[in-house]
This record gives sequence, C-alpha cells and structure tokens, in this order.
Amino acid sequence: MRLDKFLADMNFGTRREVKGYIKKGLVMVNNQIIKSDKFHVNEKEDIVEFDGEPVNYQKNFYYLLHKPGGVISATVDNYDETVLDLFQDDDFRDDLFPVGRLDKDTEGLLLIMNDGQLAHRLLSPKKHVDKEYYAKVAGIMTTEDQEKFREGLTIDGGEVCLPAELTIESVDEASQTSEIRLILHEGKFHQVKRMVQAVGKEVTYLKRLRMGPILLDESLDLGEYRPLTQEELTLLQG
Ligand code: URA
Repeated sequence: MRLDKFLADMNFGTRREVKGYIKKGLVMVNNQIIKSDKFHVNEKEDIVEFDGEPVNYQKNFYYLLHKPGGVISATVDNYDETVLDLFQDDDFRDDLFPVGRLDKDTEGLLLIMNDGQLAHRLLSPKKHVDKEYYAKVAGIMTTEDQEKFREGLTIDGGEVCLPAELTIESVDEASQTSEIRLILHEGKFHQVKRMVQAVGKEVTYLKRLRMGPILLDESLDLGEYRPLTQEELTLLQG
C-alpha cells in the first residue's frame, strides 16, 4: 500500500496533509527517511515511524457506543446530530458506520465499525442475531401478551414476527405501567414499539441491552464509547 494511504488510514491527516508530512521528512520506513508519498510499504512487515513514533497498521475498527436519545443512527445528517458526531476527532474516521439502527429516542448498545463484512453478517436476516431490550410501557403487560409474543405476533400491516421472549419485570397497577425485557431474533423497523402496540400498549422508554454476545457496557455514560475488547470481537466474529 502507498505510504500516504497508510498514514491517512491511520488518521494522521488527509491524503494531502500526509503528503506534506512525508515531504517534510517526518516519516521513516525501516529506519530510512522516505520523502516520496508514492513509496509502497508492506503494512504487515515494514516498520513505519511518524515523527519518531512507531505506527502500527490497523484495518478495522470496532466500537461499542452507549447511544443517548436525540441522536440518529446515521453517518451524516443535515438536521440531526448523528452517532458519529459523538466521536472524538482522534477516533473519527469517515468509513465508520453504525451496525443497524436504533430509533432517535432509543438508548443503549450500538456497535460502530468499519468492517462491512462483519456488519453484513450481523444484520443478515438468516443469522437471527438476537437483540435484547429493556422497555418501560404505558399499560399492563400480561401473561397473555407473553404467550402471543412467544407464538409470533402479527404487527400492523400484517407482518409476522418470529417468536420473541418477553419477560415482565414489574407491573405498577397504580400508574398503569410495566417494565419489560424482550429478546428479538430479527430486526424489523420499530419492532419493539410495534409489538407492544399490537397488544394495545405503548413503549415510553426503550434501551438496547445486548446484541448477539455483546452486552451494553453500563460503565459508559450516555454518549460515551470504547473500542471492543479482543474477547468481544472474537465472540462477535463467532
Ligand atoms: N425496536 C424499536 O421499536 N425501536 C428501536 O430503536 C429498536 C427496536
């Protein structure tokens, strides 16, 4: 790969900026100053240094974000803040994208990565990667609802859902509200809200707790993110 691409990929600047750094003599490959941006490096074997500091090449980046409400699951938007606007300059890369979508008002676990192949596998309807949600509901959720969810609910427009596991965590008769957990094995548009609506109640708060083997890291504040650990990545790659 070209030296300027190597450095731009590692977020040292735009292609144009890193060309400037190379011309200035800031970049060494295998202990030799290289002043040509067209120079090719073997990213697995060559030792590249920028201003005296070694630079390891990393192709793919994986983050776990604790999505807050009010931001949209997109890469760019003219009106709304996006999940990528939450990234610090040092971590931001323009090839990062969210894996699937959470609604604007939904909080919780969202994976952000630049690995299209893995994202494709995680989102493939055939893979049935399960997702677990916590929700507050206006209305009383019942064991009959649980049964309907287990059997596979038909939601508005006639879409049939795969069986889903509904756990009723608490019910408050006085305020006519409930707290639930729901495990889905697919990802239809607004699915949790529409399933709850199909049994005559309404989601008032929604948070994703898990996607496949990856749990929301509750030590992250809303809006914070961290790289996936090697262990998490291995689990995700399955
Ligand atoms: N289901 C929903 O209704 N909304 C989400 O954001 C995710 C799942």
